[in-house]
Amino acid sequence: MTVESVRPAAPEVPEPLEPPVAGGRVPLLGHGWKLVRDPLAFMAQLRDHGDVVRLRLGPKTVYAVTAPALTGALALNPEFIIAGPLWESLEGLLGKEGVATANGSLHRRQRRIIQPAFRLDAIPGYGPIMEEEAHALTERWKSGETIDCTSESFRVAVRIAARCLLRGDFMDERAERLCVALATVFRGMYRRMVVPAGPLYRLPLPANRQFNRALADLHLLVDEIVAERRASGQKPDDLLTALLEATDDNGDPIGEQEIHDQVVAILTPGSETIASTIMSLLQILTEHPEHADKVREEVESVTGGRPVAFDDVRKLTYTNNVVVETLRLLPAVWILTRRAVADTELGGYRIPAGADIIYSPYAIQRDPRSYDRNEDFDPDRWLPERSKDVPKFAMSPFSNGNRKCPSDHFSMALLSLLTAAVATRYRFEQVSGSNDATRIGITLHPHRLLLRPLPR
Ligand code: HEM
Repeated sequence: MTVESVRPAAPEVPEPLEPPVAGGRVPLLGHGWKLVRDPLAFMAQLRDHGDVVRLRLGPKTVYAVTAPALTGALALNPEFIIAGPLWESLEGLLGKEGVATANGSLHRRQRRIIQPAFRLDAIPGYGPIMEEEAHALTERWKSGETIDCTSESFRVAVRIAARCLLRGDFMDERAERLCVALATVFRGMYRRMVVPAGPLYRLPLPANRQFNRALADLHLLVDEIVAERRASGQKPDDLLTALLEATDDNGDPIGEQEIHDQVVAILTPGSETIASTIMSLLQILTEHPEHADKVREEVESVTGGRPVAFDDVRKLTYTNNVVVETLRLLPAVWILTRRAVADTELGGYRIPAGADIIYSPYAIQRDPRSYDRNEDFDPDRWLPERSKDVPKFAMSPFSNGNRKCPSDHFSMALLSLLTAAVATRYRFEQVSGSNDATRIGITLHPHRLLLRPLPR
């Protein structure tokens, strides 16, 4: 008997299965019309068809992942990269060399450069700016006057991201311009992504001209910020200094284009996601005054009535849970995409090389298989004794793996502080003309939330 003959036979690996095709497709458009007509409902019902399902979008097959564990496996496997038509259209507008669209070694290097600015121990350094902006916001609002939550949320989000990460006095005026440019660019970008009618967007129509002006101003602003910092000779400990001092794998300074694209790639997701979440939080505080009251009680029990400070945030468990629960039901990033670089499998299903894969944090985080009373707003579900029952990867508003949002700690700190500051000062009612239906764009947020703040 040879040694070979006693070696146990390798266990048989079953052939990966072809994922089922989701029901409800129509000739020519496939599932596309449902995806465009009501994307949230469409993504939410896909799990009934399987953990991985195939969708036909026109002539194309796209793979949708619907089970939390498999979205985790997808996000954690770097063999699934950022690519596809959605990303190509973003690159065309925002630049090809930023961290949000790069892959492979360029992406790894870029993450190494930006990561220190977002580390947990770096966040208290931003505390004074977050505090100042949160209180300035509540000061700006006057009891009884209508506030347009879209512009107010965008404004404070851009100001905080720009002032914290690109420090400097000049940021006050620049933040205002950035705000206007980014809001217009995001609206136009989504239109261009869902209706990729190239030549139409080159026509000299007012909407196209406005979009082009805003995009040009965004790039110009970023150039001005970089040039001014260089001219000042100052090197404060911030993200911009990290980018200006960064070197590539050969030890050479990184190129001008990469610095520019990096600033754009950080400011754009940074402001849109935060602004959308602030709008959703204001909507929740208005719809659920009982939770707003509990936030206020908690804040006052910690502060004794003085204005809430950054250092109080870690003691505000309930407030933090209101933010988490808002991110569960209304995750700013509602859809994510990846592309398979090689033939592979996911959950026993075959995924061919080059396949585009999508999944929806919105659908995953509302799935009744993962959450009891899944549609209810219930911040206490995040108390330790209850949150332990939430399946792994069923709550990932910041994603996982190598593309996980670098700003999760930054975002949570600033959103909790803002919620605390706003809820202690005001309660809210919607005014006529307000439309709080969910608007689907690059991010999710209420359509046009108009609120009247009333004193506490
Ligand atoms: C990536 C969510 C705030 C910068 C991401 C991703 C998600 C996300 C889900 C992963 C995308 C993917 O997997 O394809 C959010 C949410 C936020 C938020 C829900 C706030 C509520 C911010 C802020 C900044 C930021 C404030 C910067 C100031 C980025 C960047 C990436 C990213 C640069 C790309 C990371 C990479 O590809 O390596 N974000 N984000 N985000 N986010 Fe955030």
